[in-house]
Amino acid sequence: MAVRLHDILKTGFVVIAVSSIFGGIVLMYVCSHGSCRFGTSHSLARNTAAMINEYPFDVEGEDIIVFLHIQKTGGTKFGKHLVKNLNIKRPCDCIPRRKRCTCQRPNSTKTWLFSRYSLGWPCGLHADWTELHACVPGLISRHEGKRKKRKYLYITILREPVARCVSEFRCYQRGSTWKDALHKCNGRVPTKKELPPCYKGENWTDVTFPEFLNCSSNLAFNRQTRMLADLRLVGCYDSTVMPQKRRDEILLKSAKINLESMTYFALVEYQRESQYLFEKTLGMKFYRPFTQLSAEDTRAGALSANLDPRYVTRLEERNRLDIELYSFAKELFFKRLKHFKAIYGNSHTTNTGPI
Ligand SMILES: *[C@@H]1O[C@H](CO)[C@@H](O)[C@H](O)[C@H]1NC(C)=O
Ligand SMILES: *[C@@H]1O[C@H](CO)[C@@H](O)[C@H](O)[C@H]1NC(C)=O
Ligand SMILES: *[C@@H]1O[C@H](CO)[C@@H](O)[C@H](O)[C@H]1NC(C)=O
Repeated sequence: MAVRLHDILKTGFVVIAVSSIFGGIVLMYVCSHGSCRFGTSHSLARNTAAMINEYPFDVEGEDIIVFLHIQKTGGTKFGKHLVKNLNIKRPCDCIPRRKRCTCQRPNSTKTWLFSRYSLGWPCGLHADWTELHACVPGLISRHEGKRKKRKYLYITILREPVARCVSEFRCYQRGSTWKDALHKCNGRVPTKKELPPCYKGENWTDVTFPEFLNCSSNLAFNRQTRMLADLRLVGCYDSTVMPQKRRDEILLKSAKINLESMTYFALVEYQRESQYLFEKTLGMKFYRPFTQLSAEDTRAGALSANLDPRYVTRLEERNRLDIELYSFAKELFFKRLKHFKAIYGNSHTTNTGPI
């Protein structure tokens, strides 16, 4: 599944062969003397076939959908679509006022969905790519009482990085901290020295925007890149392993590869298109159409509009990796969309049904 890179960067010159879910493609990752580049046997980035997934999901099979939920990307709404809005043989069993639903395969007690609204956060609060890959297979095997090779279909949703970061800032002001997030990597959680907290005390409700921008260990910065990258490649949260520039390069490249290797991803700004892409990629339909909130409707949008331009520039600098990742994601998203539109046309055919 996806890309499995191993932490062997210490040797200085490293060649890692990675096979994508499509087999066939061999990717060489070369790092020497502070520079890293990718070469591919058939240029992964240009391989159209490899970038487009059509993977009809069999809810009665063995495959499991794993939803990687990054903070402030519209993941709550998307996660609810997965448990409440999918037209499948056996819909998830959701009890009102209870946070979690039971999502089981037909005539089975086995689950087909790893997500907050089905299993909670058993791999840690808002577990990232690194944590999920280390945790999910063992967890599912324990749940099912059987060790077995299964296919894990990773999915996620991304958001325009400046709006996302501002939205996270607003959350801190309202008392969110996500301090229960583990950030586990290579079998351990980071030390205080590796990940110094941005605030003293219980929360960061008194944070001002300049203070928010000023905290260099602020996890809000480039959150999407970090949460999609294989952090083992950069020595996890230990920033002394390599120069910042090299760390950034590796993180961004890894995040792009991992995103591309995911079965599907959505973009919060393109709800209807994301719905269409999901339906065509996984061969499942939603009952109710996804709805779009305009940027002005969201808190972050409202705040962004009043931000001092100086802060916007700082914010962009602080999220440089995410901005590049998002631009890459958008291009890939629309390439996939175009592929399916060419085959199936524009029909959004949404049926109405129970919710
Ligand atoms: C699954 O269960 C339903 C009743 O809940 C039954 O009608 C059906 O035949 C079962 N299917 C299989 C494959 O066992
Ligand atoms: C934030 O922390 C302070 C104490 O440091 C506490 O009084 C306050 O209730 C907390 N606010 C929230 C929203 O948790
Ligand atoms: C930014 O951080 C530096 C030290 O890290 C500190 O001296 C400065 O006062 C901070 N500025 C703001 C606006 O918090």
